[in-house]
Amino acid sequence: MRIGVLVSGSGSNLAALIEQVHGVTATIAGVCSSNAGALALERARAADIESAVFSLPGHGGDSARRDAAMADWLEERGVDLVVCAGFMGVLTNGFLARFPARVLNLHPSLLPAFPGRSAIDDAYAARVAATGVTVHLVDEVLDGGPIVAQTRVPVNYDETPEGLRSRIHAEEHRLLPAVVERVARGALDLDDIARKART
Ligand code: GRF
Repeated sequence: MRIGVLVSGSGSNLAALIEQVHGVTATIAGVCSSNAGALALERARAADIESAVFSLPGHGGDSARRDAAMADWLEERGVDLVVCAGFMGVLTNGFLARFPARVLNLHPSLLPAFPGRSAIDDAYAARVAATGVTVHLVDEVLDGGPIVAQTRVPVNYDETPEGLRSRIHAEEHRLLPAVVERVARGALDLDDIARKART
């Protein structure tokens, strides 16, 4: 299986995929960043993985145009699974239609609880007993697609939000590669998950 990873920031989840999946059960065929300054791009280069920047300003602020160029680039590299790992931005329906039931996103909460960008801080502020990590299929609803896998992370209010953040990231670095590995082995059927969510 050939994977395209979409990033915007530090790329610690990309690093986990490179370490645990790349060249083992699947190939990371390309990395797309919405941001030219992303540390994730350096990680891709260090691993000899092709990368490219697809910023919104670079496409006149037109996300449909940006996403079409990104989908072309991924298709040219034979990508059959797209993984959003810290990708900031909402993918257009045009992009999703090019990879039906083949776009995964990683989110640092137990969705549907705490969607959005400040999920870890929001969960901590809500004083929930537990939060976690979700891998889900991307659809047109932000952080709303069918859930593929989740890990629960108990919250300990003796620790700071930073402590919680680092435990959540550690779980992300386990869950995302495990899901991708199961999809690549054929042990997880994304079409089936998408189909069941529609019924
Ligand atoms: C992760 O917490 C992910 O859940 C969220 O963005 C963060 C990306 O971190 N969507 P990194 O760039 O992989 O280090």
